[in-house]
Amino acid sequence: MSAMRLDGKQIALEIRNEVARDVQQFVAAGNAPPKLAAILVGEDPASQVYVRNKERACQRAGIASQLDRMPATTTPAELLERIDSLNQDASVNGILVQLPLPETPVGEPALDERAVLDAVDPMKDVDAFSPINVGLLMQGRPRFLPCTPHGIIQMLHRSQIETAGKHVVVVGRSEIVGKPMAMMLAQKNGSCGPETANATVTLAHSRTQNLAEICRTADILIAAVGRPEMIRGNMIRPGAVVVDVGINRVDDRLVGDVAFAEAEQVASAITPVPGGVGPLTIAMLLHNTLLAAKLQAREGAVG
Ligand code: GUN
Repeated sequence: MSAMRLDGKQIALEIRNEVARDVQQFVAAGNAPPKLAAILVGEDPASQVYVRNKERACQRAGIASQLDRMPATTTPAELLERIDSLNQDASVNGILVQLPLPETPVGEPALDERAVLDAVDPMKDVDAFSPINVGLLMQGRPRFLPCTPHGIIQMLHRSQIETAGKHVVVVGRSEIVGKPMAMMLAQKNGSCGPETANATVTLAHSRTQNLAEICRTADILIAAVGRPEMIRGNMIRPGAVVVDVGINRVDDRLVGDVAFAEAEQVASAITPVPGGVGPLTIAMLLHNTLLAAKLQAREGAVG
């Protein structure tokens, strides 16, 4: 068997077109175009590429964007001040601090990632990293959904893959993907309806015993560990759906967390790397930026 490939590029394009259409309607109703402000600290090459892609995607969707570049020597006070001024700026609807923050030169005060993310106004937190937005999600009344897990839900839904009643194994418990992914799948009602929620979820991680055995019980296996090709073909139940969130650079190649050539012989559907989950993250960021603008327009109208 050779698995069906879940084409993230195509699905992301569909979502981006929908967002662009909704942005047009929002602007036609007399609102300013939504605006995203990104902060990039330091010169990490991968982050530069991500940020450039985000800017380009905004432009194509009719969303305004601004990029604040700050040097790797930026102090915590300077970064917090920058975030605060964006929090106060009514023309900015969404704020994104690109991660990872740079390593600190010896002797400089460390940039505490948590403190930085906590400083973003929860109403502008389009990454959904703030404890307020994580808490709302946990309680089943989300405001912003984190972009990568939401992109995966959209991809499954738009590929007619239901999760209700299925056993989903999520490998990896990161704050950005694994944890919120597990939470979203376990909800009664998801952003795409109950069929793409209501899963029985196992959240596996680096200390999980019998990982291979547990993975083999998955109807849907989501790999988000950041370890190249760690999920082998013999860890996949024949006919399972495999979602690979990993983007690892090995020599000059990009590989996922799943050994693709082995996995596609066993799975019924699988996301490639690149061109799988990656493009959906940006699409959902655009979605969140428009949502932020809508929420703020409503707030302004009431207040
Ligand atoms: N770095 C890697 N993924 C992300 C993301 O989704 N948001 C931000 N801000 N930084 C990232």
